Amino acid sequence: MKKKIFSGVQPTGNLHLGNYLGAIRNFVDLNNDTQNECIFCVVDLHAITVSQNPKDLKSNIYETVATFVASGIDPKKSIIFNQSHVSAHSETAWILSCIARMGWLNRMTQFKEKAGKDKEKASIGLYSYPVLMAADILLYDSTHVPVGDDQKQHLELCRDIAQKFNNDFKVKDFFTIPEPLIKKEFSRIMSLKDGLSKMSKSEVSDLSRINLTDDKDQIINKIKKAKTDALPLPSTIEELEKRPEAKNLICIYSSLMNNELQNSIDEFAGKNFSEFKEKLSEKVVNEINPISLKIKDLLNDKVFLEKILKEGCEKANEIASKKIREIHKIVGF
Ligand code: AMP
Ligand code: TRP
Repeated sequence: MKKKIFSGVQPTGNLHLGNYLGAIRNFVDLNNDTQNECIFCVVDLHAITVSQNPKDLKSNIYETVATFVASGIDPKKSIIFNQSHVSAHSETAWILSCIARMGWLNRMTQFKEKAGKDKEKASIGLYSYPVLMAADILLYDSTHVPVGDDQKQHLELCRDIAQKFNNDFKVKDFFTIPEPLIKKEFSRIMSLKDGLSKMSKSEVSDLSRINLTDDKDQIINKIKKAKTDALPLPSTIEELEKRPEAKNLICIYSSLMNNELQNSIDEFAGKNFSEFKEKLSEKVVNEINPISLKIKDLLNDKVFLEKILKEGCEKANEIASKKIREIHKIVGF
């Protein structure tokens, strides 16, 4: 059976190594498997759940498309489009928000993290965002959703919403129940400055992340300055578990090498960080530098990027508008 893949990335700038290893690199592998039908969405409606400067949003949409293509997603094989241009997403999100329960959304940890202490001041969109995400996925009968670890809970909610809709309206199998695709060991890349917090677009310090647009010298400098500890590198996973910064760097190396974690541990056991960091820098530069050069190139060709989005939107719209018509009938509109 063909797998139907759907995933989304927010055009909120600063796409980084965590986005790449946790999500985008997996998109590329899925795109390359001819058995799959893939849809990759630039989720601009999700981006405005926190306030965005319109000019920056526009350029971040281009940058996200450029990053997809530069990383190896082929727009001829996969659909690439932006969410706001397919109106079925917003409409389905409303209908599903009448299915989802407050109690379910109240459990979402990402809302709690993003809203911070002053929940009263968070936008309603930030709260209901996982319902929009469910609409994205369910409109395309997606079977598999590649994401980083932080999206696992949202995907469980999507499954609950789909099941409740199918049950409430007695339309068994109308919405496909999607499976998450999460790479276990490498689905949560941490900050280079703090091994206990996630590498993030919004962290103030640029030294905390490797951006996909960083050049060679920036990458080398950031890895040199990455936080470590004073001990030589350990020889077992158990020892590594107790050292978050060392673990993060070894995980990044291992992920880039497509290697089991233990193999990378064996390679550097007993060695000091300076030797390891040199090897790590070489690996990161080899992987990221060609992408960053390609992104810069593509950003000079807005006509090409617009064409990708236009064609992608047409294809996405064809699928989504058919599904929303069926939803209307089921609901009784
Ligand atoms: P976002 O930037 O929030 O739209 O995330 C895009 C994709 O990257 C999602 O699948 C996230 O789960 C994934 N992602 C974001 N940050 C990380 C990280 N630090 N480690 C691994 N995956 C991540
Ligand atoms: N919420 C996801 C994130 O912040 C992005 C996203 C939106 C998404 N819709 C999606 C991911 C559908 C997978 C499938 O990273």
